[in-house]
Amino acid sequence: MIHNLPSVPTLGGARLLGIGAYRPPTVVTNDDLAQLVETSDDWVRQRTGIATRRVSSDTVIEMGAIAGMRALESADLDPDEVDLVLLASCSMPTPIPGGAASVATSVGIRHAGAADVNAACAGFCYALSWAADAIRSGSARNVLVVASERLSYWVDWTDRTTCVIFGDGAGAVVVGTSGEERIGPVVWGSDGALNWALAVSDEERQLRMDGPAVFRWATTDMVQVAKNACASAQIDVAELAAFIPHQANLRIVDSLARKLGISADRVAHDVIEMGNTSSASIPLALERLISERRLESGDPVLLLGFGAGLTYAAQVVACP
Ligand code: UT7
Repeated sequence: MIHNLPSVPTLGGARLLGIGAYRPPTVVTNDDLAQLVETSDDWVRQRTGIATRRVSSDTVIEMGAIAGMRALESADLDPDEVDLVLLASCSMPTPIPGGAASVATSVGIRHAGAADVNAACAGFCYALSWAADAIRSGSARNVLVVASERLSYWVDWTDRTTCVIFGDGAGAVVVGTSGEERIGPVVWGSDGALNWALAVSDEERQLRMDGPAVFRWATTDMVQVAKNACASAQIDVAELAAFIPHQANLRIVDSLARKLGISADRVAHDVIEMGNTSSASIPLALERLISERRLESGDPVLLLGFGAGLTYAAQVVACP
């Protein structure tokens, strides 16, 4: 016999209420790396656009907690008003336990659900989508979405093809209820056949990447994903106030923008200072655009995450 369960009262739409960032203070320049591996400032700038990256002595959880606290402050929200904490990360040093519950406790959130999301560099967009769904379905009043990465822990500091690319940092947003929908439908997908292109093997326990393979995939397949996210949100690319793709490499960012017809003044370029911070790169770049006053509350922004798995996810959101 089928037992009918009560339906959850829905709370309407979802929106971004606040944002926080943590940029570790230790700056590593390309010249610093040229002391470790055979590379040069010229090569790294030309091929990646990266000038510096940050390396953290704090853990994924510690960095995530700082960004999370800043997001709660920016949303003017009490920790007890948060019902769910999602931590996007692919660089935790151990798999058990996940980090979300520790981030919640560090931030002073006592009774919220907590879970980790590992979709690598696309993790923030996945977690944001699930946060919005939790709000819409009535499962949560407010959700803290934290993306925190300490790639320096997994990088082989003798491998010039990866150590110049990655950096550490954390970003966070608070997602809450809204009369009007302010987080557009997610467009997502994956291709596990290319899982070898960016991976940490059980034997090596260090990050390896086929850079050109990821580069080709990102600059071709992700164009249609970005267009589909705009179409799902019923917005023309020309109407976007900003485009924030995963900050993998300046050449990828600029190539995507060019193919989408988005002018340089509307494109996020956080990778120059922060390097590739995986899932943290999108909230970090969004926070930068807001703090530089290049965006105003309500402005439509296209987010596009892509990376190891391979995985991708994109959505249009209104700026908090
Ligand atoms: O986060 C999401 C996933 N990651 C990405 O999106 C990364 C995507 N890929 C990339 O960003 C680029 O492929 C890289 C920046 C990683 C590499 O740039 P590339 O233009 O694709 O260079 P390449 O791998 O084809 O290497 C060209 C040459 C090689 O030397 P040979 O074989 O031509 O003699 C490399 O060994 O450059 C050499 N090389 C370097 N030289 C100086 C590779 N890394 C370095 C280095 N410094 N750091």
